[in-house]
Amino acid sequence: MTLRKPFFGGNWKMHHGPSATRTFVREFMAEYPPREDRTVVFFPAAISLAEFRATAAGRADLLTGLQDVHWESAGAFTGSISAAMARDAGASFILAGHSERRHVFGDSDDDVARKVAAIAAEGLVPILCVGEKLEQRDAGDVETVVERQVQEGLSRLEPGQIADVVIAYEPVWAIGTGRTASAEDADEVHRLIRGLLIEALGEGGARRIPIIYGGSVKPGNIDELLAAPDIDGALVGGASLVPADFARICLSGQR
Ligand code: 13P
Repeated sequence: MTLRKPFFGGNWKMHHGPSATRTFVREFMAEYPPREDRTVVFFPAAISLAEFRATAAGRADLLTGLQDVHWESAGAFTGSISAAMARDAGASFILAGHSERRHVFGDSDDDVARKVAAIAAEGLVPILCVGEKLEQRDAGDVETVVERQVQEGLSRLEPGQIADVVIAYEPVWAIGTGRTASAEDADEVHRLIRGLLIEALGEGGARRIPIIYGGSVKPGNIDELLAAPDIDGALVGGASLVPADFARICLSGQR
């Protein structure tokens, strides 16, 4: 699969149960016709995944994923879902290490690495999320933090598996705050991440991997972000809950 065409993810977080999902999907399909030149993936709440897929049944272009999984494939882990179950339910991508998982639920770098490995082992695409907090940015630690999160997040993968990941750079201070990183600042971090991938995979492999930006992406700022050389798409929270807004975002960068 060539992943590196513009890549748009809608992370619904804890929004849209099955009924709201049905309404959303109908409206979104009316606003966004199928296109081959971009990848669009939705991350509904796990409980809404089946409803999403049933409502979008005729739309093979609308891919789905989950927001998180446990690293074990089965067992006594009340409340958890495994990558194997996600695959069975039709997911093709899974987020790992989203900022809210790290900072609200306490996922460590090693937890994230285990999840990334479990996702890849199921043949699904892990979207490794990384990003610094405001105090880390202010202290000049962006590079150290992002480098550590990328290296540790990928540390349990075989080199062959690293070729099939997506990286999402989501500065914590830009998530849900209305404050977006400038395209220039975000691109600088994306270049740093690209450099780490080049070390792991060589130039050719690293250039195939989508590095997407997240943090207050809206219809009004997506075009500028996407125009930056190393920003390959976006992971969108709030604006992905509104069909017309997310359709506009997903249509950005048309040629
Ligand atoms: P917002 O777009 O609401 O800032 O959320 C970003 C995000 O966390 C996507 O994963």
